[in-house]
Amino acid sequence: MAEADGDVTLDALRTALRSANSVFVLTGSGISAESGLPTFRGVGGLWRTHRVEELASPLGFARDPELVWTWYNERKAAHVRAQPNAGHYALARLEEAIGDFTLATQNVDSLHLRAGSKRVLELHGNLREARCTGCDARRRFDADGLPLDQIEHFCGGRFRPDIVWFGEPLPPAVWREAEAAAARADVILVAGTSAIVYPAAALATHYNERAFVAEVNPEPTAISGRVDCVLRSTAAELLPQLLGDLELPRPT
Ligand code: OAD
Repeated sequence: MAEADGDVTLDALRTALRSANSVFVLTGSGISAESGLPTFRGVGGLWRTHRVEELASPLGFARDPELVWTWYNERKAAHVRAQPNAGHYALARLEEAIGDFTLATQNVDSLHLRAGSKRVLELHGNLREARCTGCDARRRFDADGLPLDQIEHFCGGRFRPDIVWFGEPLPPAVWREAEAAAARADVILVAGTSAIVYPAAALATHYNERAFVAEVNPEPTAISGRVDCVLRSTAAELLPQLLGDLELPRPT
């Protein structure tokens, strides 16, 4: 692992990307920090001021669905108010230049899609749809969120956010695709995640010993000591800089 000189490590990543046929990117809440959205564990992070078990667990939802929806409706409104930042846009541009590109995100804010990324795997679901706990019926909701008087479904179930809560498995098809993409990648780029929530974090370091793995994060993380290069910078600063001088050939 190298963390000595930012230019040297950036050049090493550029070199790896120029010869890469397949690129896998893993992002977390840090990539949306410069869009004004809070992370989970940093200063002002969501899990510093909110109780995970009340807001992000099936038991918490069963106990108080209105509390849970009030919180997710506020988060949804914040997501809609936020704009993708230069980091999101840089990854959308990178996708255009790489034949086999997959972006797996732990975020539920839809900002990668809004920035134009196409091959996005939302590991923890999204806040665009609600699904019924009883019959799996789905309904979309917009910036106003799900009205609290519409939580109960006529089947006897309840609409819940279509996101993955603690103790729940990731959507199997999404996970399989992410595993496969991580395993075949020549370059794995990890941006804006503390890499401590599993299984998502495993995609960075557990499926591929051959890939060049780079981390973009202003702070040390659980995987910093195991990657090939660490770029101690924010996503919105570093990713456009990375793309700036990259001159990748477009896939034919
Ligand atoms: P964390 O809050 O654990 O980590 C955010 C990471 O982003 C930290 O390592 C920060 O240093 C970094 N960071 C902050 N600002 C940044 C910036 N401008 N550019 C780049 N990096 C920056 O959030 P996640 O890793 O996303 O799951 O957390 C993973 C999962 O834990 C979330 O998906 C969520 C949470 O509980 C569920 O809710 C299921």
